[in-house]
Amino acid sequence: MTRLKLAILISGRGSNMKALLKAARDPSFPAQPVLVLSNRPDAKGLETAATEGVATLAIDHKTFGKDREAFERAMHEHLEAAGVEIIALAGFMRVLTPWFVNAWKGRMINIHPSLLPKYKGLDTHQRAIDAGDAEAGCTVHWVSPGVDDGEIIQQASVPIMPGDTPDILAHRILPVEHTLYPEALAKACKMIRAQNDASE
Ligand code: GAR
Repeated sequence: MTRLKLAILISGRGSNMKALLKAARDPSFPAQPVLVLSNRPDAKGLETAATEGVATLAIDHKTFGKDREAFERAMHEHLEAAGVEIIALAGFMRVLTPWFVNAWKGRMINIHPSLLPKYKGLDTHQRAIDAGDAEAGCTVHWVSPGVDDGEIIQQASVPIMPGDTPDILAHRILPVEHTLYPEALAKACKMIRAQNDASE
């Protein structure tokens, strides 16, 4: 089985990236990491990826000023050059333009720390607590032009306990993200492969 070439896009500590890299150490995992790319040169996750022996690249979005698409075109060039077939956004905190989203339509997934469609955007944990929800969780979805939008691939939930703070809740959800993301990525790869087979 050939593995799909995977790029992981990060902006920070990269704990989800690490979970994906760990899963991909198994040669039967359907994706092979070829690039970890960050919009922040100081992202901690870049060091982790380098330690794991994966190629890393930082493209500082700030050098492109307000021109989001110019930044994305620079990313796109590198992703294409690396032969990337699927992108996993893992704490990549830049809103993407419709141009980039369409260029990677059906080939880009994201993880978000809420039970989508609830609480798109920021402060998800606080918003779930404030709403008095009994549970929170995380979602992996295909990326579409709306923020944290797009068809859901897989979700997992955790209870919200009395006295939870956003921090406590985030710490309960994070390890669940680390299990969910590799599973959902494997599922996404199978969907892409099935589509490729059907169009051959
Ligand atoms: C994760 O909780 C991820 O779900 C969230 O950022 C965190 C990144 O942590 N993503 C979003 O909020 C996307 N809208 P990590 O860098 O340790 O993986």
